[in-house]
Amino acid sequence: MKLLEGKTAIITGGSRGIGKGIVETFVKHGANVAFTYNSSKESADAIASDLSKEGVKVKAYQSNAANFEDSQELAAEVLKEFGSIDILINNAGITKDNLLMRISEEDFDKVIEVNLKSVFNMTKAVQRAMLKQRKGSIINMSSVVGVKGNAGQTNYAASKAGIIGFTKSVALELGSRDIRCNAIAPGFIETEMTGKLNEETVQSWREAIPLKRGGSPEDIANACVFLASDLSGYITGQVLNVDGGMLT
Ligand SMILES: NC(=O)c1ccc[n+]([C@@H]2O[C@H](COP(=O)([O-])OP(=O)(O)OC[C@H]3O[C@@H](n4cnc5c(N)ncnc54)[C@H](OP(=O)(O)O)[C@@H]3O)[C@@H](O)[C@H]2O)c1
Repeated sequence: MKLLEGKTAIITGGSRGIGKGIVETFVKHGANVAFTYNSSKESADAIASDLSKEGVKVKAYQSNAANFEDSQELAAEVLKEFGSIDILINNAGITKDNLLMRISEEDFDKVIEVNLKSVFNMTKAVQRAMLKQRKGSIINMSSVVGVKGNAGQTNYAASKAGIIGFTKSVALELGSRDIRCNAIAPGFIETEMTGKLNEETVQSWREAIPLKRGGSPEDIANACVFLASDLSGYITGQVLNVDGGMLT
C-alpha cells in the first residue's frame, strides 16, 4: 500500500544517512521528493537519478538550510517545479561535540544555526504554501539527546531540545489550518558514519538498548511515513521516540 501517493515532500539533508533512508522510503510510498544536501553533490545526484526511475519525481538541490535566503529560494523553486509542498522534513543536522569547558563560541553557534535555525528557516519558507493548501505535515528531526541531555553535547542537546519547543509551538499556531507539526527523537541509529566506530564500543551500546540493536535509517523513515501520511491525521505537537526503548 502506497501511503504518500500524489504528495510532494521536501527533505533536508537527503544525501546520506537517515535523510537518504527517508528519501528512498518516501519514493517507495509514491511521494515526489525534493531533497537537499550541503556539499555531497555527486552522491545526491546519483540518488536522484537512481530513484527517478521509480515513476515519481525526485530532485536534489544544493541548499544551505542554515541560510534564510537559500531556504526561501528552495521553497519557491520546489513549488514552481513540483506544484505543491505537502510535507517538510527538517532532517539536516551536524555535531561538534566537546565538553563545555572546551567548546568554542563558534562551535556552539554553528550547531544551533545548522540544527535549529534551519528548522525556523524551512518552516517559514513552506508556511505560505501549506496555509494556502490548508493542509501539511512538518516533521522535525530531534534526538533522544534533546529529550534527556548528554555530557559533551551541550550545543547539540540545546539545538535538539529547541526543536521540540519550536515543534509544539508551530503545532499550536497552525493546527486550525490542518497543518500538523511533530518531532522524531531517534536513539542510536547505525549509518555509514557509525560503521567507522570501534565495533566493541558499538556492541556495548547495542546491549544497553532494550531491543538489543541500533536503529536503521529505515526505522526512522517508517516513522516519518506514518507522521507524513493521513494515517496520523489526528496527531500533532508530539515527540515520537524511535529509539528501541532507550529512554524507557
Ligand atoms: N545518527 C544518529 O544516531 C542520530 C540520532 C539522533 C538524531 N539524529 C539526527 O538525524 C539527522 C540526520 O542524521 P545522520 O546521522 O543521518 O547525519 P549525516 O549522516 O551526517 O547526514 C547529514 C545530512 O545533512 C546534510 N547537511 C549538513 N549540513 C547541512 C546544511 N547546512 N544544509 C543542508 N544540508 C546539510 C548533509 O549533507 P552533505 O552530505 O552534503 O554534507 C547530509 O545529507 C540529524 O538531524 C541528526 O542530528 C541522528
